[in-house]
Amino acid sequence: MSSSQCSYMYEEYKETADWLLTHTDIRPKVAIICGTGLGGLADLLVNKTVFPYKDIPRFPHSTVEGHAGQLVFGELKGKQCVCMQGRFHFYEGYNTATVTYPVRVFYLLGVKTLIVTNAAGGINPSFKIGDIMLIKDHINFPGFAGQNPLCGQNEERFGVRFPCMSDAYDKSLAQLTKETAKELCCNSFLQHGVYCMLAGPTFETIAECKMLQLLGADAVGMSTVPEVVVARHCGLRVLGLSLITNQVVSDYDSEDHANHDEVLEIGRMRTDVLKELVSHVVAKTEPNSQL
Ligand code: HPA
Repeated sequence: MSSSQCSYMYEEYKETADWLLTHTDIRPKVAIICGTGLGGLADLLVNKTVFPYKDIPRFPHSTVEGHAGQLVFGELKGKQCVCMQGRFHFYEGYNTATVTYPVRVFYLLGVKTLIVTNAAGGINPSFKIGDIMLIKDHINFPGFAGQNPLCGQNEERFGVRFPCMSDAYDKSLAQLTKETAKELCCNSFLQHGVYCMLAGPTFETIAECKMLQLLGADAVGMSTVPEVVVARHCGLRVLGLSLITNQVVSDYDSEDHANHDEVLEIGRMRTDVLKELVSHVVAKTEPNSQL
């Protein structure tokens, strides 16, 4: 497949899913997309089968050196899972159909729950670096500009033409995550808020940050929303978690500058907590119940 095909046929997703099902005995009910600096989540899996993206038929893969990604199948606390180690970003030049290709494959594999993680800038002034924000809703800025992965002909085998998004983030999974954070004594840095996606790759200007604050965004990043839109279209339940890696700059007198090294550094610092939280939540998920 070309890495920037604008739309895909049902049969293409199916071919990928069927190939994976014949190459692993794992039948995942949970898929986890590991955000920037959070790839370590996949290390928790046992009885692993690992597929580099380039070896999976029709799966998108990066042609850029050093950006290898892989799908990791295995068990996490006794639950069969698949992890995406390395996601596709719009700012890399992939269109939204390509960015979300893996989500439809997960659906065809039998996945019921999608856990998305990302690194994000804190807009809410009460957030601290290292906080973990449970995503309660999102603002799809690229969608306003026509970059919605569901644009184009609707494939009814995945979902309806006009899917609801007012219930995008599953309330019972969020509640379960809150309770789990309490049990793990990490609820003091668990936040709850609205994630705003911008296309990137530039970090925000000061005026843009002020605007996002006014719009009610609590965190800003460059991913996640397309995958969530496609997941909801095909009926997956979604849990979203943002690791706040920096505070956005919204003051003209500030000497701070957003930079990617800081994002990676905080990702490394809090990745263990996030891993714990996600694995305990996965342990409690039941594909056929509200959890
Ligand atoms: N802005 C956008 N994306 C990000 C940021 C940010 O400040 N931090 C991590 N991802």
